[in-house]
Amino acid sequence: MPAGPQTFDLVIAANRLPVDRVVDPDGTVSWRTSPGGLVTAMESVMRGRDGAWVGWAGEPGDPPEPFHEDGMFLQPVGLSAHEVREYYEGFSNDTLWPIYHDVIVPAKFHRAWWNCYRSVNRRFAEAVAEVAAPGATVWVHDYQLQLVPAMVRELRPDVRIGWFNHIPFPPVELFAQLPWRRALVEGLLGADFLGFQRTSDAENFLRSCRRLLGMTTKADTVTFRPGGVGAGGEERHVRASAIPISVDFKGLEELSRTPEVQARAREIRESLGNPSTLMLGVDRLDYTKGIRHRLKAIEELLQDGAIAPPDTVFVQVATPSRERVDAYRRLRTEVEGTVGRINGEYSPIGASAVHYLHHSYPRAEMAALFRAADVMLVTPLRDGMNLVAKEYVTCRSDLGGALVLSEFTGAWHELKQAYVCNPHDIEGLKQTIMAAIQTPAAEKRRRMKALRRRVSDHDVQRWAARYLDALAAAPKKPERSPR
Ligand code: ADP
Ligand code: G6P
Repeated sequence: MPAGPQTFDLVIAANRLPVDRVVDPDGTVSWRTSPGGLVTAMESVMRGRDGAWVGWAGEPGDPPEPFHEDGMFLQPVGLSAHEVREYYEGFSNDTLWPIYHDVIVPAKFHRAWWNCYRSVNRRFAEAVAEVAAPGATVWVHDYQLQLVPAMVRELRPDVRIGWFNHIPFPPVELFAQLPWRRALVEGLLGADFLGFQRTSDAENFLRSCRRLLGMTTKADTVTFRPGGVGAGGEERHVRASAIPISVDFKGLEELSRTPEVQARAREIRESLGNPSTLMLGVDRLDYTKGIRHRLKAIEELLQDGAIAPPDTVFVQVATPSRERVDAYRRLRTEVEGTVGRINGEYSPIGASAVHYLHHSYPRAEMAALFRAADVMLVTPLRDGMNLVAKEYVTCRSDLGGALVLSEFTGAWHELKQAYVCNPHDIEGLKQTIMAAIQTPAAEKRRRMKALRRRVSDHDVQRWAARYLDALAAAPKKPERSPR
């Protein structure tokens, strides 16, 4: 379909495009898959749908020209260096991210960041209004764009608007700390349907509507009059409900079964000295992921003599993330220091106890790592879903491997046959890791089979269909025509 104003029946808006523009020191420009679970999931949903994706290309400065990729129309939104600091690193990732993840690190509040967040959200809304066809479906994603639903409604009352939160929605006691809480709720309530990962996230949102804005809710729907009682606005009803996200089971499983991936999995094990147990962690280098707690448990297991290299090794893949935000810098220093200390203490020559890889890898390499790992350690302190857990079981068509999974992930609500852990309880975590290592193969296969059934029955295509059906059926029909 040719690009142009008001052309697309399906428009998604996310802070990031599915690809980042990267300029090497010699000036060569290339495009790389953007980090994170949102892009992994939405890229497979949007491929071949003839929709538009509005987002940032990952570097400061003027936006590149719009372009087509994999059947999608990509509409870049530009962010200046100042906006990257204040809207992206500041308000999105140093204010909202900690508040929405149980304040694992303190949140920072700056009025200038908020003003910048508002103006960037306005720019996203304008870009959406530009490309959406009359009566289109607009699907806004995540915490970076919470004001976009109301802003799009103002510009284009003819379109149907959904928003999905990929991360947790905080309890009202934490959300209430935000000086801009009312504006955030009102921004979201511009949507027709709000999707969350867990029922408790949707309930937290509804509770905030009641307690902080005095609105009425019935079951999963909030009823209110825009502008308040007496403003003369038409009463609106917005549903807030859980639709947990997933992975492209079929595509990833197929990839993991290819001879190349299987050979690479064997090669990975060989290069690690063919350990009897290979443990793996795969995360963005984020304080929500519980990497420090995981390393603490492993260090103590080494100290206790319960595990030892080269028989048991741990590979931690940590994708670089938000590297200019203080809390992320500190985490990196701490993690790298801990890995060095553990290896210094417990690794003999030629057999590291911990292998630490601070890189992004192609999907086939990730599939090979999953296929190679005997025990997958997913230990977040808080995580909206955690797609890595679902990807791991997807790749284990051989029914090998064991998943250790934190009860503070969205994934835990679906993957109950995993080895469940509370990452704050180091003693318990150590015992769970040992159980995952020592359980007889037949029992592990039984668990893996059940986990795989769940993910294959609830894959990302089914998630998208459920979301879009719920959005289409949402109470309020668009009535007015576009401006
Ligand atoms: P988050 O969205 O918070 O980063 P998820 O677990 O939901 O967490 O999603 C992470 C996504 O990023 C997964 O699809 C995972 O495979 C991918 N990923 C994580 N680390 C890497 C890496 N080093 N290289 C490539 N992809 C990675
Ligand atoms: C999580 C968020 C996404 C975000 C991703 C990567 O998955 O839910 O919105 O894109 O992390 O983070 P980044 O800040 O690099 O976009």
